[in-house]
Amino acid sequence: MIDINKIRKDFPILNRQVNGKPLVYFDNAATSQTPQQVIDVIVDYYSNYNANIHRGVHALSQEATDKYEAARHTIQKHFNAKQAYEVIFTSGTTHSINLVANGFTSILKKGDQLIVSALEHHSNIVPWQMLCEKTGAILKVIPMTPEGELDMEAYDALLNDKTKLVFVNHISNALGTINPIKSIIDKAHKFGAAVLIDGAQASPHIKPDVQALDVDFYVTSAHKICGPTGVGMLYGKEEWLNKMEPYQGGGEMIDQVTFEKTTYAGLPHKFEAGTPNICGGIAFGAALDYMNAIGFDNIAEYEHELLNYGTKQLQDIEGLKIYGTSKNKTSVISFNLEGIHPYDVGTLLDKMGIAVRTGHHCAQPIMDYFKIPGTVRASFAFYNTKEEIDTLVQGVKKAKMMLS
Ligand code: ALA
Repeated sequence: MIDINKIRKDFPILNRQVNGKPLVYFDNAATSQTPQQVIDVIVDYYSNYNANIHRGVHALSQEATDKYEAARHTIQKHFNAKQAYEVIFTSGTTHSINLVANGFTSILKKGDQLIVSALEHHSNIVPWQMLCEKTGAILKVIPMTPEGELDMEAYDALLNDKTKLVFVNHISNALGTINPIKSIIDKAHKFGAAVLIDGAQASPHIKPDVQALDVDFYVTSAHKICGPTGVGMLYGKEEWLNKMEPYQGGGEMIDQVTFEKTTYAGLPHKFEAGTPNICGGIAFGAALDYMNAIGFDNIAEYEHELLNYGTKQLQDIEGLKIYGTSKNKTSVISFNLEGIHPYDVGTLLDKMGIAVRTGHHCAQPIMDYFKIPGTVRASFAFYNTKEEIDTLVQGVKKAKMMLS
């Protein structure tokens, strides 16, 4: 059970006013808010033990190193990775995907096939297109259905012995659809293909078990899970991480450097060149601790209630169309009012203190499929309330009146 009054007290930002109205924050799919417990960890780092890690013999450096590595173990435990060194700290999901795409440059050859889905964020499309240009590999696309689900029969038909990699999101950021990733992974493995799952939108709602999924790569960003921006992670199976070339060269990622030849460090350091976001990594661990203390089952159950409540209220508004109607979805409602541009709706909602995202949500192929310029997207988190949804519904009705 979620104790909503207690939880809301953890988030100082929820008390602020926007345009003279109490903030209603429904842009959680873009970034989540930060609880005081995580803010305290950030303040503590800069107040008490700010130092570079893995480098100094002095006390502050040791303390920062211990906390950073403890955070890696928290992440390992949360995602159930077999080894802590299979968790690579990155600057976020986009960095993680680019790291893997770059690592496959020397593994792929001309004519190899890669499979992406029609539901992807641009960050899970563009790095692979760049990889195809470099290697001569061919990109194939799993189409979507009008409900915003993946066409799994079409996926079956795309798989063959030339398929080397499949990359899909766990949950669509634009529509909220939960994709059948276990089946996607198992089918790809029958053809020896590796699978990368973009978990950026799933991580705030679901606790994935990477070993049970048998997934090759799972990536996410801390800021979607009550942590700070600028830090994320790549989980990769050890055998894949060993096969891949490092993404960046620099300090930390080496074993020996001479002008004749450099040898690389082992995992995870091979992929962690340069001074990382130390405070961010530690706060990432703290954010997972915070979310786990609430419990992902409780979070999912409560958010599902919000989703059902919001869907029912919004779909009763005449001329409002919801995009993404899968039965299997998280607390994201993408919609448009007939004849009204989503940007105009979003701007008016902002005047009422309601934060939503408008536009193509970095998923232009989905918008092209529906032949729309974009949507208004309300995305709910476990610290939102039904009363806030009522405010949104009133706001949308008012915007409709003013813009019709
Ligand atoms: N990917 C983030 C979103 O969906 C930024 O809004």
